[in-house]
Amino acid sequence: MAKNRAKSAEVQPEKQEEGVVAAVVNQKGGVGKTTTVTNLAAIFAAEGNRVIVVDADGQATATRWAGQAEDAPPFQVVNLYNNPQIGREILRFKSEYDIVFVDCPGNLDRKITPAVIAVADLVVIPMRASGFDLWASEKPLEAVQEARITRPSLRYAVLLTHANPRTRMHADMEEFLRESDAPLFNTQIQHRTVYEVIGTAGRTVMSATGIRGAPPARREMMAAAEEIVELLQGTHPSQQNTEQAANRVEEGAGQ
Ligand SMILES: Nc1ncnc2c1ncn2[C@@H]1O[C@H](COP(=O)(O)OP(=O)(O)OP(=O)(O)O)[C@@H](O)[C@H]1O
Ligand SMILES: [Mg+2]
Repeated sequence: MAKNRAKSAEVQPEKQEEGVVAAVVNQKGGVGKTTTVTNLAAIFAAEGNRVIVVDADGQATATRWAGQAEDAPPFQVVNLYNNPQIGREILRFKSEYDIVFVDCPGNLDRKITPAVIAVADLVVIPMRASGFDLWASEKPLEAVQEARITRPSLRYAVLLTHANPRTRMHADMEEFLRESDAPLFNTQIQHRTVYEVIGTAGRTVMSATGIRGAPPARREMMAAAEEIVELLQGTHPSQQNTEQAANRVEEGAGQ
């Protein structure tokens, strides 16, 4: 992957013939799926990876975001929302790109998200630490766990977004996640006005130079990107036990 491109040990997925698919999934609206996708895609592109963003959401926010940008984004955005072959199309991108990010819809669609999860190597579940989000947070975990019945090696992790660690809700969310045993990013994306500012301007933490509040946002998104690489490589701290168990199940199924 990404031969002869800029080298950074931190955000370069292991070199492989085929690229990887990272789907960003949560049926709850407004949790930060599109924000996560556009910013992480920009970081991977800045590190010399060939990146494509698949917009699988009928609202087409990522597509519109790309249209806002003064300069062309450093990666292509394609809208496949209405494409019944979305899974097959995503798989085709794996031969041309190092990483395919998929921005999933923020509603309870029964077709698109399962089709995307079926071809994903990694599912990132952004979750917002608020009361209503807490009630809704089991749904995306159930969707991934269902897929893991037939594909236990499917990797996933929850990324806390809009985080405000001083609030009671934040503590409640952390407790729920600890009890759910879901793998968690160590990095939390804080609630920062800068994300709204750069989002509507078609920019990312990488192109937000001179915007107040951008440096800490860039640092936390870069830390999340490093964790994505660890998750894809199976070296993320949250995977130490679950990976071994998944491999045993798959080996057993293959006998
Ligand atoms: N960490 C953050 N801090 C502050 N605002 C944020 C943060 N993340 C996202 N936002 C803002 O919250 C709103 C929703 O974010 P975003 O569009 O990324 O969510 P989404 O999950 O993709 O929503 P949808 O389900 O509607 O597609 C946007 O206005 C965005 O700029
Ligand atoms: Mg969105």
